[in-house]
Amino acid sequence: MFSIQYQKAGPSTVYKIIEKNLKDDLQPNEVHVQVKYSGINFADIMARKGTYQDAPPFPCVVGYEVSGIVKNIGSKKLEHLLEREVLCFTHFGGYSSDLILPAHCVFIKPQNLCMEQAAAVPVNYLTAYLLLIGMGSLKAHETILIHNAGGGVGLAAIELAKYIGAKIMGTASKSKHQKLLEFGVDHVLDYRTNSWIDEYKKITNNQGVELIIDPIGGLSWKNSYQLLRSTGRLGMFGISSGSESKFSQLKMLLQMPIFHPISLLNNNRSVFGVNMGRLWHEPDKAILWMNEILELINKNIIRPYVDKVFSYKDVASAHEYIENRKNFGKVLLKMFD
Ligand SMILES: NC(=O)c1ccc[n+]([C@@H]2O[C@H](COP(=O)([O-])OP(=O)(O)OC[C@H]3O[C@@H](n4cnc5c(N)ncnc54)[C@H](OP(=O)(O)O)[C@@H]3O)[C@@H](O)[C@H]2O)c1
Repeated sequence: MFSIQYQKAGPSTVYKIIEKNLKDDLQPNEVHVQVKYSGINFADIMARKGTYQDAPPFPCVVGYEVSGIVKNIGSKKLEHLLEREVLCFTHFGGYSSDLILPAHCVFIKPQNLCMEQAAAVPVNYLTAYLLLIGMGSLKAHETILIHNAGGGVGLAAIELAKYIGAKIMGTASKSKHQKLLEFGVDHVLDYRTNSWIDEYKKITNNQGVELIIDPIGGLSWKNSYQLLRSTGRLGMFGISSGSESKFSQLKMLLQMPIFHPISLLNNNRSVFGVNMGRLWHEPDKAILWMNEILELINKNIIRPYVDKVFSYKDVASAHEYIENRKNFGKVLLKMFD
């Protein structure tokens, strides 16, 4: 049994593969999961670089989600999980071959998904579900703008928006535009050029859009807010523009907008935030939302898109692949030889 442990903040190579021992006694609500695939999230990369405020102190094992097989259970009431293929949330520690997890973080894998696809579900889909449905209340007659549309959350959001029937606009690196159009996005622009806001104003006849989901932060939140139509909502869920270093984080913080209540009121707009890493105290809600997501998967309405799978021994290349903006959708680690 092993884990990939980051020793200190630094480049993709600052990890060690360490031996791991599981504790002998499971609590009645716990299961032992033998991990097959671990999902990589942008937060893992920020944690490795030392720019993720919620990360555990070094040395640490990151990772928010896995798929695997339940090998042991803490009590008879969990018998329905034994030897089942599952997908799981992990409160860090996901880059491991074996995990002991509370049963409420473990969900039986839909039969129409392979184990790779299963590891791509928890974080991306729950985040997108909250942004579009739980808090964003997107409707069929509305338009959504999805920033970073080619990332894991972006593709999950596109699928949910298509299911709702909304018009979809996106932003991403230019190299991802063609694929995004094929995926069902109606318009796509590059968010690293200044003109996207004017272009989208033009395309919407200066009306703007009803829902914008923005993981970039800083100046981007300011620009996104300006593009909201009356009754529009801005869902903020990441600060990737501050991910590079403490300096970029400071710059991003200084560029952040301040939303005045009177201005929100007079403009008929709202702003909200989503941080999955701060919802561990709400397992009942998470179970409810996950069951709705799994139902959509069971009905073949949504289907996670896995871009690339790396061996756990190539975790450095996997991080670099995402950092170099090469990924289109989910990147996974295969946690066995
Ligand atoms: N609040 C939450 O609960 C929550 C949950 C999940 C994710 N998130 C946030 O959502 C964002 C996307 O996450 P994800 O997992 O969907 O992404 P991902 O699949 O890991 O994709 C990363 C993509 O982010 C873009 N990007 C933006 N800034 C970048 C940078 N400085 N270096 C490299 N790539 C950069 C690139 O797309 P382009 O080529 O298009 O630029 C890249 O391909 C991140 O900010 C993440 O922290 C938040």
